[in-house]
Amino acid sequence: MIATVDRFSRPLRDLRISVTDRCNLRCRYCMPREAFGNDAVFLARKELLSFEEIARVARVFASLGVEKIRLTGGEPLLRREIEVLVAMIAAIDGISEVALTTNGTLLAGKARALRDAGLRRVTVSLDALDEEVFRSMSDTRIPLARVLAGIDAALEAGLSPVKINMVVRRGINDHCVLAMAERFRGRPEVLRFIEYMDVGTTNGWRLEQVVSAGELRDAIGERWPLEPIVPDRLGDVATRYRYRDGAGEIGFIHSVSAPFCASCTRARLSAEGRLHTCLFATRGHDLRAFVRGGATDAQLSREIALIWAARSDRYSADRAEETAGRVCAEKKIEMSYIGG
Ligand code: GTP
Ligand code: 5AD
Ligand code: SF4
Ligand code: SF4
Repeated sequence: MIATVDRFSRPLRDLRISVTDRCNLRCRYCMPREAFGNDAVFLARKELLSFEEIARVARVFASLGVEKIRLTGGEPLLRREIEVLVAMIAAIDGISEVALTTNGTLLAGKARALRDAGLRRVTVSLDALDEEVFRSMSDTRIPLARVLAGIDAALEAGLSPVKINMVVRRGINDHCVLAMAERFRGRPEVLRFIEYMDVGTTNGWRLEQVVSAGELRDAIGERWPLEPIVPDRLGDVATRYRYRDGAGEIGFIHSVSAPFCASCTRARLSAEGRLHTCLFATRGHDLRAFVRGGATDAQLSREIALIWAARSDRYSADRAEETAGRVCAEKKIEMSYIGG
């Protein structure tokens, strides 16, 4: 197979597939209720790609070099019988890993079925262990215990490693960082701290609210000394460390302070079948029109290859060079639409 590379020689290796733009939480940094309230408009059923359509597109991506597929949302477990899609994707030649990013609230009832269908691992978003902070950040009445039960069920089902994503916002949950680290030390879960990013346009992102990964690493390392882990995979978003006392691994995602665009091999497919070549893209390419318009696999493959070959996105790196407060003339897509 000839590798499909973009204008910065980055191959196409990973595909993140959003299966729904809906979510049962309203995290203030992602789906603030002012923008995603009762009258919010979501994609209609017929606009969503069916499982068969998603699997077909995923097969074509695999033929172009994609090895890893991650299902996202909104909240992917809201999509009925998502395990059926997992099984369809896990069966594709060339796909070595199927993973899923979830808020964990529905995971306890699904972990086993997902594992049986061929899901390898799961990442659970969890921003605090304090009930009040959790509920306030996620703007929900769902108890934190539901998420913790989801994490336990994932471990029991053998989804491994279970990763925990904590988005840190200054003044909101940065005081919870050490408690979070302590909780997951010596456990099989891998905790990752994520710098708050300027995704979308509704969350009112401000640079002052970003706590840099370096600052977090120093604070944790001061309490429990850390040493770096040599990366075994090119293009990982997390910088990995281990506790020197043997209490396991943690990671930091420097998306704002040290962008990783140079090694970005990720394509993103929205729930309605639009291909986005960057998390911060303003526009997507309508693959659904090809799929529903009778295109052959060869035609679809050529279209995707052309889109990837023309790709020149490096939003975060550009933002870092311009320093803070880049104003985007066009509306960026929302996190809940594209899944991170
Ligand atoms: P692993 O396969 O476990 O490494 O998953 P992941 O870290 O790639 O995926 P996850 O859904 O857990 O995302 C973690 C964080 O990284 C989220 O905040 C994502 O939005 C962010 N992220 C993932 N990919 C990219 C990317 O290409 N660019 C940027 N800027 N952020 C990304
Ligand atoms: N910045 C960083 N991470 C974010 N996530 C959602 N919104 C943001 C943001 N603005 C995280 C979620 C989830 C992952 C897919 O992205 O918490 O763990
Ligand atoms: Fe929160 Fe994830 Fe839902 Fe966004 S998609 S509101 S980050 S749980
Ligand atoms: Fe990739 Fe865009 Fe993220 Fe850079 S900002 S790492 S190009 S998705």
